[in-house]
Amino acid sequence: MKAQVGLIIHQEQEDYLERLLPERDLLLREMERFADEHDIPIADPEVATFLEITVQALRAQRVLEVGTAIGYADIFMARAMSPQDRVVTIDISIEMIEKAKAYVKRAGLEDQVEFHEGPALTMIPTLVGPFDLVYLDAVKAEYRDYLDLALPLIRIGGVVVCDNVLWRGQVASGRLLAAHYRGSTEALRGFNDYFVRHPQLLAQILPVGDGLAYGVKVK
Ligand SMILES: C[S@@+](CC[C@H](N)C(=O)[O-])C[C@H]1O[C@@H](n2cnc3c(N)ncnc32)[C@H](O)[C@@H]1O
Repeated sequence: MKAQVGLIIHQEQEDYLERLLPERDLLLREMERFADEHDIPIADPEVATFLEITVQALRAQRVLEVGTAIGYADIFMARAMSPQDRVVTIDISIEMIEKAKAYVKRAGLEDQVEFHEGPALTMIPTLVGPFDLVYLDAVKAEYRDYLDLALPLIRIGGVVVCDNVLWRGQVASGRLLAAHYRGSTEALRGFNDYFVRHPQLLAQILPVGDGLAYGVKVK
């Protein structure tokens, strides 16, 4: 179940766009149900589809994801890649990684997804580039640091996608859904400014899902 229904675009538009989405297979549907029942935030299907499209458009051979959860987006991206290509994914939670590994294995993609357990801020600097696509989706207040660490690992012409940058409408409206969102909302507002003005990126914020920052590395 979506966290931001009607908060980014009007519900009528959201319902319409949802009806246009490609059907997901039984495994992806099961993952969506599991995430819903266990309150695990995973990508909205339109975001996962957008990532899949980006992987195809770039003919990506190496993708970095920061924040694995149960591996939902990994399956979309790895399916769009060739068997010798790799999705490298980082999560701080061993439980999440174990769950993601099991789903990725059921998808028959275990040779294509490489899992790294640990805090992203310490794990990203241990990785070797180049990556064609980097997808940021862990701690919202850390996005700027993730970007600073990951950008040198992205090839020129490669893409950065960051999820939830409109944060259930809070970033634009300033109206918090709960007090504990203040820090992440303010951090995301600062991050979005930094991102769209970054001298190495040609970038924009898109009202897809919960808000996607999308940037191409041009320098
Ligand atoms: C929104 S979920 C990721 C969803 C996934 N990218 C997808 O598209 O389905 C965020 C994940 O980030 C992980 N996480 C939280 N703090 C982290 C950190 N400091 N470093 C790495 N991962 C972290 C959480 O365990 C959680 O699984």
